[in-house]
Amino acid sequence: MYNDIGEFVSMRLKHIKGSEMIVKESPVVINNPRDYKGNFKSIFGNNNKIYLEVGMGKGNFIIEHARRNKNINYIGFEKYPSVILGAIKIIEEENLKNLRIICEDATCIDEIFYKEISKLYLNFSDPWPKKRHAKRRLTSPNFLKKYDSIFKSIKVIEQKTDNDDLFSYSLESFKEAKYKVLKKNINYFDSIRTEYESKFIAKGKNINYVKVFKF
Ligand SMILES: C[S@@+](CC[C@H](N)C(=O)[O-])C[C@H]1O[C@@H](n2cnc3c(N)ncnc32)[C@H](O)[C@@H]1O
Repeated sequence: MYNDIGEFVSMRLKHIKGSEMIVKESPVVINNPRDYKGNFKSIFGNNNKIYLEVGMGKGNFIIEHARRNKNINYIGFEKYPSVILGAIKIIEEENLKNLRIICEDATCIDEIFYKEISKLYLNFSDPWPKKRHAKRRLTSPNFLKKYDSIFKSIKVIEQKTDNDDLFSYSLESFKEAKYKVLKKNINYFDSIRTEYESKFIAKGKNINYVKVFKF
């Protein structure tokens, strides 16, 4: 997580009492995701594309996408139950049938999906600036390898980050993993912003964006 002056600090987020139970009982959270491996379309009851956001945080981005694009199914992946309580409430209240959440660590992502994701969003992922933590970055070679088996056909990843070092690192990782850059912008404007994006823009920080693909 980030402190008040925008520095990344690795620490646990504030735990909200009872959050695990709320997550476990919510119909919008997929609590047994491995049971659906290769068959997530059955959750949505249609053949629409599935877009995934890993590290959805409070979910502003994926919720707004789901509201605007009813012909696309969305899955938000987030490791901390306390963080997703607000998103659960909104999805339930608005009855957003095309958005579901998985509350797990993305290190097991290849145990959960098999050839069913059409696009992966990585928004303001934790930068893990220390070299010894590089493997935890969601664009590290080991994560990119895990993503290979989750995509249905063409592999498409969109990344937004305020962090210039993480951005350079990610571009290098994408290149090594044979991804090609489709779009890149170091001063990106998106009409659908994440919580962190709004905070960084308010502080005058530029937003880095890249869209990569491989067959
Ligand atoms: C810096 S926040 C950004 C949240 C949101 N994407 C945004 O832009 O507002 C990163 C989020 O990713 C989650 N996260 C980090 N590593 C993760 C992992 N390995 N698996 C699942 N979630 C992860 C964190 O818990 C946190 O909520």
